[in-house]
Amino acid sequence: MLKVENLTKTFKQGESNITAVSKIGFSIKDGQFVSIIGKSGSGKSTLLSLLGTLEKPSSGSIVIDGEDVTKMSEHELTNYRCKSIGFVFQSYNLIPNLTAIENVMLPLEFAGLGKGKRFERAKQLLDQVEIVEDKQTRRPTRLSGGEQQRVAIARALANKPKLILADEPTGNLDSQTGKKIFDLLHNLARSENTTIVAVTHDLSIAGKTDKVFKITDGKLKA
Ligand SMILES: Nc1ncnc2c1ncn2[C@@H]1O[C@H](COP(=O)(O)OP(=O)(O)O)[C@@H](O)[C@H]1O
Ligand SMILES: [Mg+2]
Repeated sequence: MLKVENLTKTFKQGESNITAVSKIGFSIKDGQFVSIIGKSGSGKSTLLSLLGTLEKPSSGSIVIDGEDVTKMSEHELTNYRCKSIGFVFQSYNLIPNLTAIENVMLPLEFAGLGKGKRFERAKQLLDQVEIVEDKQTRRPTRLSGGEQQRVAIARALANKPKLILADEPTGNLDSQTGKKIFDLLHNLARSENTTIVAVTHDLSIAGKTDKVFKITDGKLKA
């Protein structure tokens, strides 16, 4: 369970302040797939960064499974992010000089798994997102955009996070590939009971998720 209350984030811009997220509140049940829509600059990425504990809120609380993550120390947060949250970005953010399987193995190394176990789990995840064996040992530049995003999803799932945060994960893909990536996320959410919060521009995709949050000028409109 994820519960957000009165969440506000203000950035200082020289003399003035920008309130990117303004008094947002909602709750999400385990395993729900929630999409966030809204115009460019409305505060979607800031909200996701707050949920991912990458940014500290100016005020408000984020309670995940009974724990207020806004009260954790930096050290606790680093552990928490690694263990409990998977991130998927528009630009995939794979490490270019590592192969697909090495990219997926990396978070498992931080989690302290031995090499054999890391390889086994990474391979299983890549199979699950339908990256064929021959492509698992390729570097990202030798994969299509859709394939790179599948690898990024496998990496996000590596440590079995309770929460996946995806910021316009299909923003660089054609609409058909984008739909397939969303279906993939949806199926994973169902089978692993993972909660997913995804920003998207595609209203036909958003319409298929369990809940849609519309953000306007940092505020949530139901
Ligand atoms: N680190 C930052 N410093 C200053 N202003 C920021 C920062 N991040 C975001 N903003 C501002 O906050 C507002 C919301 O940005 P953002 O969350 O990126 O919107 P979206 O993802 O919906 O396009 C924008 O006005 C943006 O310029
Ligand atoms: Mg954004």
